[in-house]
Amino acid sequence: TQENKALFIIFGGTGDLAKRKLYPSLFRLFRKGAIGKHFAVIGTARREWTNDHFREVVTESIKELNPTPKEIDSFTSHFYYQAHNVTNTEEYVTLEKLASELNEEYQLEGNRIFYLAMAPSFFGTIAQHIKSEHILSDDGFNRLIIEKPFGTDYKTAKELNDSISAAFTEDQIFRIDHYLGKEMVQNISAIRFGNNIFESLWNHHYIDNVQITLAESLGVEERGGYYDKSGALKDMVQNHILQVVALLAMEPPTIFSDRAIRTEKINALESIRIYNEEEVKENFVRGQYSSGLLGNNNFVGYHDEKDVDPTSSTETFVAGKFMIDTFRWSGVPFYIRTGKRLTEKGTRINIVFKPTPINVFRESTQSEELPENILTIYIQPTEGFSLTLNGKEVGPGFAVDPVKLNYRHSSETLENSPEAYEKLLLDCLKGDATNFTHWDEVAASWKIVDIIRQTWDKETGAIPTYSARTMGPKESFDLLEKDGRSWVWEPEQWYREKE
Ligand code: BG6
Repeated sequence: TQENKALFIIFGGTGDLAKRKLYPSLFRLFRKGAIGKHFAVIGTARREWTNDHFREVVTESIKELNPTPKEIDSFTSHFYYQAHNVTNTEEYVTLEKLASELNEEYQLEGNRIFYLAMAPSFFGTIAQHIKSEHILSDDGFNRLIIEKPFGTDYKTAKELNDSISAAFTEDQIFRIDHYLGKEMVQNISAIRFGNNIFESLWNHHYIDNVQITLAESLGVEERGGYYDKSGALKDMVQNHILQVVALLAMEPPTIFSDRAIRTEKINALESIRIYNEEEVKENFVRGQYSSGLLGNNNFVGYHDEKDVDPTSSTETFVAGKFMIDTFRWSGVPFYIRTGKRLTEKGTRINIVFKPTPINVFRESTQSEELPENILTIYIQPTEGFSLTLNGKEVGPGFAVDPVKLNYRHSSETLENSPEAYEKLLLDCLKGDATNFTHWDEVAASWKIVDIIRQTWDKETGAIPTYSARTMGPKESFDLLEKDGRSWVWEPEQWYREKE
Protein backbone atom coordinates (compact mmCIF):
# COMPACT_ATOMS: atom_id res chain seq x y z
CA THR A 1 0.00 0.00 0.00
CA GLN A 2 1.23 3.43 -0.87
CA GLU A 3 1.50 5.89 1.99
CA ASN A 4 -0.62 9.05 1.75
CA LYS A 5 0.35 12.34 3.30
CA ALA A 6 -2.18 14.66 4.89
CA LEU A 7 -3.29 16.68 7.85
CA PHE A 8 -6.83 15.93 8.98
CA ILE A 9 -8.62 18.77 10.72
CA ILE A 10 -11.70 17.31 12.33
CA PHE A 11 -14.34 19.77 13.49
CA GLY A 12 -16.46 17.92 16.01
CA GLY A 13 -13.48 15.84 17.13
CA THR A 14 -15.08 14.90 20.45
CA GLY A 15 -18.32 13.75 18.83
CA ASP A 16 -19.98 10.46 18.24
CA LEU A 17 -19.20 10.18 14.54
CA ALA A 18 -15.51 10.86 15.13
CA LYS A 19 -15.29 8.24 17.86
CA ARG A 20 -17.46 5.58 16.27
CA LYS A 21 -16.31 5.86 12.67
CA LEU A 22 -13.43 8.20 11.94
CA TYR A 23 -10.78 7.20 14.45
CA PRO A 24 -11.29 3.47 13.92
CA SER A 25 -11.17 3.97 10.15
CA LEU A 26 -7.99 6.03 10.40
CA PHE A 27 -6.49 3.33 12.55
CA ARG A 28 -7.30 0.65 9.99
CA LEU A 29 -5.69 2.79 7.30
CA PHE A 30 -2.67 3.20 9.56
CA ARG A 31 -2.38 -0.52 10.09
CA LYS A 32 -2.49 -1.13 6.38
CA GLY A 33 0.16 1.50 5.72
CA ALA A 34 -2.18 3.81 3.76
CA ILE A 35 -1.17 6.45 6.28
CA GLY A 36 2.04 6.15 8.29
CA LYS A 37 4.72 8.59 9.27
CA HIS A 38 3.30 11.48 7.32
CA PHE A 39 -0.09 12.16 8.77
CA ALA A 40 -1.46 14.19 11.66
CA VAL A 41 -4.90 14.82 13.07
CA ILE A 42 -6.15 17.96 14.77
CA GLY A 43 -9.37 17.35 16.65
CA THR A 44 -11.32 20.48 17.51
CA ALA A 45 -14.44 21.04 19.56
CA ARG A 46 -15.62 23.41 22.26
CA ARG A 47 -14.50 21.36 25.23
CA GLU A 48 -11.16 22.05 26.85
CA TRP A 49 -9.18 18.86 26.39
CA THR A 50 -5.45 18.23 26.53
CA ASN A 51 -3.62 16.29 23.83
CA ASP A 52 -3.20 13.50 26.35
CA HIS A 53 -6.88 13.27 27.07
CA PHE A 54 -7.67 13.37 23.35
CA ARG A 55 -5.24 10.52 22.78
CA GLU A 56 -6.93 8.49 25.50
CA VAL A 57 -10.29 9.01 23.82
CA VAL A 58 -8.83 7.93 20.49
CA THR A 59 -7.30 4.86 22.17
CA GLU A 60 -10.68 3.98 23.62
CA SER A 61 -12.36 4.34 20.24
CA ILE A 62 -10.03 1.82 18.55
CA LYS A 63 -10.13 -0.70 21.40
CA GLU A 64 -12.27 -3.15 19.48
CA LEU A 65 -9.55 -3.47 16.86
CA ASN A 66 -7.22 -4.94 19.48
CA PRO A 67 -4.24 -2.68 18.92
CA THR A 68 -0.92 -3.58 20.56
CA PRO A 69 0.51 -1.00 23.02
CA LYS A 70 3.13 -0.15 20.44
CA GLU A 71 0.51 0.48 17.77
CA ILE A 72 -1.48 2.64 20.17
CA ASP A 73 1.55 4.76 20.94
CA SER A 74 2.69 5.30 17.43
CA PHE A 75 -0.84 5.92 16.10
CA THR A 76 -2.11 8.28 18.80
CA SER A 77 1.09 10.31 18.89
CA HIS A 78 -0.14 11.87 15.62
CA PHE A 79 -3.25 13.29 17.34
CA TYR A 80 -3.50 16.89 18.59
CA TYR A 81 -6.36 18.66 20.20
CA GLN A 82 -7.41 22.25 20.02
CA ALA A 83 -10.36 23.72 21.91
CA HIS A 84 -12.22 25.72 19.37
CA ASN A 85 -15.28 27.87 19.25
CA VAL A 86 -16.29 28.01 15.59
CA THR A 87 -17.36 31.64 15.76
CA ASN A 88 -14.16 32.91 17.37
CA THR A 89 -11.87 34.33 14.70
CA GLU A 90 -8.75 34.32 16.86
CA GLU A 91 -9.00 30.62 17.44
CA TYR A 92 -8.70 30.03 13.70
CA VAL A 93 -5.41 31.87 13.84
CA THR A 94 -4.20 29.46 16.53
CA LEU A 95 -5.50 26.58 14.48
CA GLU A 96 -3.57 27.71 11.43
CA LYS A 97 -0.42 28.02 13.50
CA LEU A 98 -0.75 24.48 14.77
CA ALA A 99 -1.59 23.25 11.27
CA SER A 100 1.58 24.77 9.79
CA GLU A 101 3.73 23.41 12.60
CA LEU A 102 2.39 19.92 12.05
CA ASN A 103 2.82 20.32 8.32
CA GLU A 104 6.53 20.93 8.91
CA GLU A 105 6.98 18.32 11.58
CA TYR A 106 5.31 15.48 9.69
CA GLN A 107 6.24 16.68 6.20
CA LEU A 108 2.67 16.71 4.98
CA GLU A 109 3.41 18.63 1.78
CA GLY A 110 0.59 21.07 2.49
CA ASN A 111 -2.18 18.48 2.09
CA ARG A 112 -5.23 19.21 4.21
CA ILE A 113 -8.51 17.39 4.70
CA PHE A 114 -11.18 19.30 6.60
CA TYR A 115 -13.81 17.01 8.08
CA LEU A 116 -16.97 18.69 9.34
CA ALA A 117 -18.31 16.11 11.76
CA MET A 118 -20.85 18.42 13.31
CA ALA A 119 -24.26 20.00 12.76
CA PRO A 120 -24.63 21.53 9.27
CA SER A 121 -25.80 24.82 10.79
CA PHE A 122 -22.11 25.52 11.56
CA PHE A 123 -20.78 24.71 8.09
CA GLY A 124 -21.19 28.21 6.70
CA THR A 125 -19.43 29.88 9.64
CA ILE A 126 -16.57 27.42 9.51
CA ALA A 127 -16.14 27.74 5.76
CA GLN A 128 -16.09 31.54 5.93
CA HIS A 129 -13.42 31.53 8.61
CA ILE A 130 -11.36 28.92 6.80
CA LYS A 131 -11.32 31.33 3.89
CA SER A 132 -10.85 34.61 5.75
CA GLU A 133 -8.21 33.33 8.17
CA HIS A 134 -6.30 31.61 5.36
CA ILE A 135 -6.51 28.09 6.70
CA LEU A 136 -6.40 26.68 3.20
CA SER A 137 -2.90 25.63 2.35
CA ASP A 138 -1.18 27.15 -0.65
CA ASP A 139 0.61 24.06 -1.74
CA GLY A 140 -0.73 20.51 -1.65
CA PHE A 141 -4.46 19.84 -1.70
CA ASN A 142 -7.39 21.16 0.32
CA ARG A 143 -10.39 18.86 0.57
CA LEU A 144 -13.60 19.15 2.53
CA ILE A 145 -15.63 16.18 3.74
CA ILE A 146 -19.19 16.72 4.87
CA GLU A 147 -22.01 14.43 5.83
CA LYS A 148 -25.76 14.46 5.45
CA PRO A 149 -28.16 16.04 6.02
CA PHE A 150 -27.42 18.40 3.14
CA GLY A 151 -30.32 20.69 3.98
CA THR A 152 -33.91 19.75 4.61
CA ASP A 153 -35.19 20.66 1.14
CA TYR A 154 -33.80 22.08 -2.09
CA LYS A 155 -33.78 25.64 -0.80
CA THR A 156 -31.88 24.97 2.43
CA ALA A 157 -29.55 22.55 0.62
CA LYS A 158 -28.69 25.31 -1.85
CA GLU A 159 -28.05 27.78 0.96
CA LEU A 160 -25.80 25.27 2.67
CA ASN A 161 -23.97 24.59 -0.55
CA ASP A 162 -23.51 28.27 -1.30
CA SER A 163 -22.09 28.79 2.17
CA ILE A 164 -19.42 26.11 1.84
CA SER A 165 -18.70 27.18 -1.72
CA ALA A 166 -17.39 30.43 -0.24
CA ALA A 167 -14.21 28.56 0.64
CA PHE A 168 -14.18 25.35 -1.40
CA THR A 169 -14.69 24.59 -5.08
CA GLU A 170 -16.92 21.71 -6.13
CA ASP A 171 -13.85 19.60 -6.94
CA GLN A 172 -12.66 20.01 -3.36
CA ILE A 173 -15.96 18.99 -1.74
CA PHE A 174 -16.46 15.33 -0.84
CA ARG A 175 -20.07 14.71 0.24
CA ILE A 176 -20.43 11.42 2.01
CA ASP A 177 -23.33 9.09 1.38
CA HIS A 178 -22.18 6.04 3.29
CA TYR A 179 -24.20 3.74 1.03
CA LEU A 180 -21.71 4.53 -1.74
CA GLY A 181 -19.01 3.02 0.45
CA LYS A 182 -20.82 -0.31 0.69
CA GLU A 183 -19.18 -3.15 -1.17
CA MET A 184 -22.32 -4.35 -2.96
CA VAL A 185 -23.47 -0.86 -3.90
CA GLN A 186 -20.11 -0.44 -5.61
CA ASN A 187 -20.63 -3.85 -7.16
CA ILE A 188 -23.70 -2.62 -9.07
CA SER A 189 -21.38 -1.08 -11.65
CA ALA A 190 -19.31 -4.26 -11.93
CA ILE A 191 -22.40 -6.39 -12.45
CA ARG A 192 -23.81 -4.01 -15.04
CA PHE A 193 -20.75 -2.99 -17.00
CA GLY A 194 -18.73 -6.16 -16.57
CA ASN A 195 -21.36 -8.57 -17.90
CA ASN A 196 -22.70 -8.33 -21.39
CA ILE A 197 -25.51 -10.73 -20.56
CA PHE A 198 -26.95 -8.08 -18.26
CA GLU A 199 -26.06 -4.80 -19.85
CA SER A 200 -27.53 -5.79 -23.18
CA LEU A 201 -30.83 -6.60 -21.47
CA TRP A 202 -30.74 -3.58 -19.18
CA ASN A 203 -33.65 -1.62 -20.68
CA HIS A 204 -37.40 -1.45 -21.13
CA HIS A 205 -37.41 -4.16 -23.77
CA TYR A 206 -36.41 -6.81 -21.26
CA ILE A 207 -36.88 -5.42 -17.77
CA ASP A 208 -40.38 -5.33 -16.36
CA ASN A 209 -39.66 -3.47 -13.15
CA VAL A 210 -36.96 -2.75 -10.60
CA GLN A 211 -37.48 -3.07 -6.85
CA ILE A 212 -35.30 -1.55 -4.18
CA THR A 213 -35.86 -2.33 -0.50
CA LEU A 214 -33.90 -0.81 2.37
CA ALA A 215 -35.48 -2.52 5.35
CA GLU A 216 -34.45 -2.01 8.94
CA SER A 217 -35.57 -4.05 11.92
CA LEU A 218 -34.60 -1.43 14.49
CA GLY A 219 -36.81 1.46 15.49
CA VAL A 220 -35.56 5.02 15.91
CA GLU A 221 -33.51 4.06 18.99
CA GLU A 222 -31.74 7.10 20.48
CA ARG A 223 -32.38 9.40 17.54
CA GLY A 224 -36.06 10.20 18.05
CA GLY A 225 -35.41 13.93 18.26
CA TYR A 226 -33.67 14.09 14.89
CA TYR A 227 -35.85 11.51 13.21
CA ASP A 228 -39.16 13.03 14.18
CA LYS A 229 -38.23 16.16 12.25
CA SER A 230 -36.85 14.23 9.32
CA GLY A 231 -38.87 11.09 8.56
CA ALA A 232 -38.01 8.23 6.23
CA LEU A 233 -38.38 10.26 3.03
CA LYS A 234 -35.60 12.70 3.92
CA ASP A 235 -33.61 10.25 6.00
CA MET A 236 -33.33 7.49 3.41
CA VAL A 237 -35.00 8.27 0.06
CA GLN A 238 -33.46 11.64 -0.78
CA ASN A 239 -29.96 10.24 -0.35
CA HIS A 240 -29.35 6.50 -0.17
CA ILE A 241 -32.26 5.26 -2.28
CA LEU A 242 -31.89 7.83 -5.03
CA GLN A 243 -28.18 7.13 -5.20
CA VAL A 244 -28.93 3.45 -5.73
CA VAL A 245 -31.53 4.33 -8.37
CA ALA A 246 -28.93 6.49 -10.14
CA LEU A 247 -26.38 3.66 -10.22
CA LEU A 248 -28.95 1.23 -11.60
CA ALA A 249 -30.44 3.63 -14.12
CA MET A 250 -27.45 5.57 -15.46
CA GLU A 251 -26.06 5.10 -18.96
CA PRO A 252 -22.74 3.25 -19.14
CA PRO A 253 -19.86 5.66 -18.56
CA THR A 254 -17.28 5.75 -21.34
CA ILE A 255 -14.59 4.96 -18.79
CA PHE A 256 -14.81 4.13 -15.08
CA SER A 257 -13.67 7.50 -13.76
CA ASP A 258 -15.25 9.81 -11.22
CA ARG A 259 -16.00 12.44 -13.84
CA ALA A 260 -17.65 10.08 -16.27
CA ILE A 261 -19.73 8.42 -13.58
CA ARG A 262 -20.85 11.69 -12.08
CA THR A 263 -22.03 12.92 -15.43
CA GLU A 264 -24.11 9.80 -15.98
CA LYS A 265 -25.52 9.76 -12.47
CA ILE A 266 -26.54 13.40 -12.76
CA ASN A 267 -28.26 12.68 -16.08
CA ALA A 268 -30.11 9.74 -14.55
CA LEU A 269 -31.31 11.70 -11.52
CA GLU A 270 -32.38 14.61 -13.66
CA SER A 271 -34.44 12.22 -15.81
CA ILE A 272 -36.56 10.98 -12.92
CA ARG A 273 -40.07 12.27 -13.39
CA ILE A 274 -41.02 15.06 -11.02
CA TYR A 275 -44.61 14.40 -10.03
CA ASN A 276 -47.40 16.84 -9.45
CA GLU A 277 -49.44 16.49 -6.25
CA GLU A 278 -52.03 14.16 -7.80
CA GLU A 279 -49.28 11.90 -9.07
CA VAL A 280 -47.59 11.88 -5.67
CA LYS A 281 -50.84 10.62 -4.12
CA GLU A 282 -51.06 7.90 -6.75
CA ASN A 283 -47.43 6.82 -6.58
CA PHE A 284 -46.20 7.30 -3.03
CA VAL A 285 -47.42 5.94 0.30
CA ARG A 286 -46.14 6.30 3.82
CA GLY A 287 -46.67 4.63 7.16
CA GLN A 288 -45.75 4.75 10.80
CA TYR A 289 -45.05 1.78 13.02
CA SER A 290 -47.41 0.96 15.84
CA SER A 291 -46.53 -1.52 18.56
CA GLY A 292 -46.09 -5.15 17.63
CA LEU A 293 -45.46 -8.53 19.10
CA LEU A 294 -42.90 -10.96 17.74
CA GLY A 295 -42.37 -14.09 19.77
CA ASN A 296 -42.15 -12.86 23.31
CA ASN A 297 -40.92 -9.42 22.31
CA ASN A 298 -43.26 -6.52 22.49
CA PHE A 299 -42.04 -3.60 20.40
CA VAL A 300 -43.26 -0.15 21.31
CA GLY A 301 -45.00 1.98 18.72
CA TYR A 302 -43.37 5.07 17.23
CA HIS A 303 -45.47 7.43 19.36
CA ASP A 304 -44.01 5.93 22.51
CA GLU A 305 -40.39 6.26 21.45
CA LYS A 306 -38.09 8.57 23.35
CA ASP A 307 -38.03 12.20 22.11
CA VAL A 308 -40.89 11.60 19.68
CA ASP A 309 -44.00 13.79 19.73
CA PRO A 310 -46.84 11.43 20.78
CA THR A 311 -49.11 13.00 18.14
CA SER A 312 -46.42 12.94 15.46
CA SER A 313 -47.38 12.19 11.87
CA THR A 314 -43.77 11.60 10.80
CA GLU A 315 -43.44 8.63 8.45
CA THR A 316 -41.20 5.74 9.44
CA PHE A 317 -41.94 3.96 6.17
CA VAL A 318 -42.13 5.07 2.55
CA ALA A 319 -42.94 3.14 -0.59
CA GLY A 320 -43.18 4.62 -4.01
CA LYS A 321 -42.77 4.36 -7.72
CA PHE A 322 -40.26 6.40 -9.69
CA MET A 323 -40.47 6.69 -13.46
CA ILE A 324 -37.42 7.61 -15.50
CA ASP A 325 -38.12 9.43 -18.70
CA THR A 326 -35.38 8.16 -20.97
CA PHE A 327 -35.35 5.88 -24.03
CA ARG A 328 -33.84 3.16 -21.88
CA TRP A 329 -36.39 3.20 -19.09
CA SER A 330 -39.60 4.36 -20.68
CA GLY A 331 -42.49 2.64 -18.89
CA VAL A 332 -40.33 0.72 -16.37
CA PRO A 333 -41.32 1.42 -12.77
CA PHE A 334 -38.62 1.64 -10.13
CA TYR A 335 -40.44 0.64 -6.95
CA ILE A 336 -38.71 1.64 -3.76
CA ARG A 337 -39.47 1.10 -0.09
CA THR A 338 -37.73 1.71 3.18
CA GLY A 339 -38.81 1.61 6.77
CA LYS A 340 -37.93 1.09 10.38
CA ARG A 341 -39.18 -1.81 12.53
CA LEU A 342 -39.72 -4.08 9.58
CA THR A 343 -39.39 -7.85 9.80
CA GLU A 344 -35.66 -7.92 9.21
CA LYS A 345 -32.66 -5.82 8.31
CA GLY A 346 -32.19 -6.31 4.61
CA THR A 347 -31.14 -4.15 1.70
CA ARG A 348 -31.84 -5.71 -1.63
CA ILE A 349 -32.37 -4.88 -5.27
CA ASN A 350 -34.51 -7.02 -7.54
CA ILE A 351 -34.30 -6.61 -11.28
CA VAL A 352 -37.42 -8.34 -12.54
CA PHE A 353 -37.20 -9.35 -16.20
CA LYS A 354 -40.16 -9.67 -18.54
CA PRO A 355 -41.54 -13.17 -18.96
CA THR A 356 -41.08 -15.11 -22.19
CA PRO A 357 -43.41 -13.94 -24.99
CA ILE A 358 -45.51 -17.06 -24.66
CA ASN A 359 -45.41 -19.97 -22.26
CA VAL A 360 -44.94 -23.08 -24.38
CA PHE A 361 -45.28 -25.20 -21.24
CA ARG A 362 -48.68 -23.75 -20.39
CA GLU A 363 -50.39 -27.12 -20.36
CA SER A 364 -48.11 -28.48 -17.66
CA THR A 365 -47.54 -25.25 -15.71
CA GLN A 366 -51.24 -24.42 -15.90
CA SER A 367 -50.51 -20.75 -16.04
CA GLU A 368 -50.35 -18.28 -18.88
CA GLU A 369 -46.94 -16.97 -17.90
CA LEU A 370 -43.79 -18.50 -16.58
CA PRO A 371 -42.26 -17.02 -13.44
CA GLU A 372 -40.00 -14.06 -14.20
CA ASN A 373 -36.22 -14.20 -14.24
CA ILE A 374 -34.96 -12.10 -11.39
CA LEU A 375 -31.50 -10.77 -10.70
CA THR A 376 -31.23 -10.03 -7.00
CA ILE A 377 -28.41 -7.97 -5.58
CA TYR A 378 -28.02 -8.55 -1.85
CA ILE A 379 -26.46 -5.45 -0.38
CA GLN A 380 -26.66 -6.27 3.31
CA PRO A 381 -26.43 -8.11 5.62
CA THR A 382 -25.85 -10.89 3.07
CA GLU A 383 -23.56 -9.68 0.30
CA GLY A 384 -23.90 -11.37 -3.03
CA PHE A 385 -26.30 -11.93 -5.88
CA SER A 386 -28.66 -14.49 -7.21
CA LEU A 387 -30.28 -15.18 -10.52
CA THR A 388 -33.64 -16.88 -10.65
CA LEU A 389 -34.10 -18.98 -13.77
CA ASN A 390 -36.72 -21.49 -14.88
CA GLY A 391 -35.66 -25.10 -15.19
CA LYS A 392 -37.25 -28.47 -15.67
CA GLU A 393 -38.20 -30.22 -12.52
CA VAL A 394 -36.51 -33.59 -12.22
CA GLY A 395 -38.79 -36.49 -13.04
CA PRO A 396 -41.41 -37.57 -15.52
CA GLY A 397 -43.69 -35.10 -17.29
CA PHE A 398 -42.57 -31.57 -17.91
CA ALA A 399 -42.96 -29.32 -14.92
CA VAL A 400 -41.03 -26.06 -15.10
CA ASP A 401 -39.95 -24.45 -11.89
CA PRO A 402 -37.81 -21.53 -10.83
CA VAL A 403 -34.34 -22.30 -9.48
CA LYS A 404 -31.85 -19.87 -8.01
CA LEU A 405 -28.19 -19.55 -8.84
CA ASN A 406 -26.73 -18.13 -5.68
CA TYR A 407 -23.45 -16.42 -5.06
CA ARG A 408 -22.38 -14.68 -1.91
CA HIS A 409 -19.11 -13.33 -0.64
CA SER A 410 -17.62 -15.69 1.90
CA SER A 411 -17.39 -14.56 5.49
CA GLU A 412 -13.57 -14.85 5.30
CA THR A 413 -13.48 -12.41 2.39
CA LEU A 414 -15.76 -10.02 4.20
CA GLU A 415 -13.89 -10.17 7.47
CA ASN A 416 -10.92 -8.47 5.90
CA SER A 417 -12.87 -6.13 3.71
CA PRO A 418 -12.76 -2.48 4.70
CA GLU A 419 -15.68 -0.74 6.26
CA ALA A 420 -17.51 1.99 4.28
CA TYR A 421 -15.86 4.92 6.08
CA GLU A 422 -12.41 3.47 5.71
CA LYS A 423 -12.86 3.16 1.95
CA LEU A 424 -14.29 6.65 1.64
CA LEU A 425 -11.50 8.25 3.66
CA LEU A 426 -8.94 6.53 1.49
CA ASP A 427 -10.74 7.65 -1.68
CA CYS A 428 -10.66 11.21 -0.39
CA LEU A 429 -6.95 10.97 0.40
CA LYS A 430 -6.39 9.86 -3.17
CA GLY A 431 -8.70 12.52 -4.57
CA ASP A 432 -11.08 9.98 -6.08
CA ALA A 433 -14.64 11.35 -5.96
CA THR A 434 -16.37 8.37 -7.60
CA ASN A 435 -18.17 7.36 -4.43
CA PHE A 436 -19.19 10.82 -3.29
CA THR A 437 -22.19 12.87 -4.37
CA HIS A 438 -21.88 15.91 -6.58
CA TRP A 439 -23.96 19.01 -5.82
CA ASP A 440 -26.02 18.49 -8.98
CA GLU A 441 -27.03 15.06 -7.69
CA VAL A 442 -28.06 16.49 -4.34
CA ALA A 443 -30.02 19.25 -6.06
CA ALA A 444 -31.83 16.85 -8.40
CA SER A 445 -32.69 14.53 -5.50
CA TRP A 446 -34.22 17.31 -3.43
CA LYS A 447 -36.33 18.49 -6.33
CA ILE A 448 -37.79 14.99 -6.65
CA VAL A 449 -38.41 14.66 -2.93
CA ASP A 450 -39.66 18.18 -2.17
CA ILE A 451 -42.95 17.79 -3.99
CA ILE A 452 -43.66 14.51 -2.18
CA ARG A 453 -43.05 16.16 1.18
CA GLN A 454 -45.14 19.21 0.26
CA THR A 455 -48.04 17.03 -0.81
CA TRP A 456 -47.95 15.10 2.44
CA ASP A 457 -47.64 18.25 4.50
CA LYS A 458 -50.98 19.39 3.13
CA GLU A 459 -52.75 16.17 4.13
CA THR A 460 -54.49 16.35 7.48
CA GLY A 461 -55.80 12.81 8.01
CA ALA A 462 -54.00 10.19 10.09
CA ILE A 463 -51.16 8.46 8.28
CA PRO A 464 -51.41 4.69 7.76
CA THR A 465 -49.82 2.53 10.43
CA TYR A 466 -48.19 -0.89 10.35
CA SER A 467 -47.45 -3.30 13.16
CA ALA A 468 -43.85 -3.38 14.25
CA ARG A 469 -41.97 -6.28 12.61
CA THR A 470 -44.11 -6.49 9.50
CA MET A 471 -43.12 -5.32 6.01
CA GLY A 472 -45.04 -2.05 6.18
CA PRO A 473 -48.62 -0.87 5.69
CA LYS A 474 -51.14 -2.47 3.37
CA GLU A 475 -50.91 0.59 1.11
CA SER A 476 -47.40 -0.45 0.10
CA PHE A 477 -48.64 -3.81 -1.18
CA ASP A 478 -51.61 -2.16 -2.89
CA LEU A 479 -49.25 0.15 -4.75
CA LEU A 480 -47.78 -2.77 -6.70
CA GLU A 481 -50.98 -4.73 -6.85
CA LYS A 482 -52.76 -2.02 -8.78
CA ASP A 483 -50.02 -2.40 -11.41
CA GLY A 484 -50.57 -6.18 -11.41
CA ARG A 485 -47.28 -6.79 -9.58
CA SER A 486 -46.06 -7.67 -6.11
CA TRP A 487 -42.95 -7.16 -4.00
CA VAL A 488 -40.37 -9.89 -4.46
CA TRP A 489 -39.15 -10.74 -1.00
CA GLU A 490 -38.06 -13.94 0.61
CA PRO A 491 -36.74 -13.97 4.14
CA GLU A 492 -33.00 -14.38 4.20
CA GLN A 493 -33.02 -18.11 4.68
CA TRP A 494 -31.36 -19.43 1.59
CA TYR A 495 -27.81 -18.87 2.58
CA ARG A 496 -28.23 -19.82 6.20
CA GLU A 497 -29.67 -23.16 5.18
CA LYS A 498 -26.70 -23.78 2.96
CA GLU A 499 -24.21 -23.31 5.75
C1 BG6 B 1 -28.63 6.63 7.99
C2 BG6 B 1 -29.98 6.99 8.55
O1 BG6 B 1 -28.28 7.51 6.96
O2 BG6 B 1 -28.67 5.31 7.48
C3 BG6 B 1 -30.41 6.00 9.61
O3 BG6 B 1 -29.93 8.28 9.11
C4 BG6 B 1 -30.34 4.60 9.08
O4 BG6 B 1 -31.72 6.29 10.07
C5 BG6 B 1 -28.98 4.32 8.45
O5 BG6 B 1 -30.56 3.70 10.16
C6 BG6 B 1 -28.96 2.97 7.77
O6 BG6 B 1 -27.64 2.68 7.40
P1 BG6 B 1 -27.13 1.18 7.28
O7 BG6 B 1 -25.72 1.29 6.81
O8 BG6 B 1 -27.26 0.56 8.63
O9 BG6 B 1 -28.05 0.52 6.30
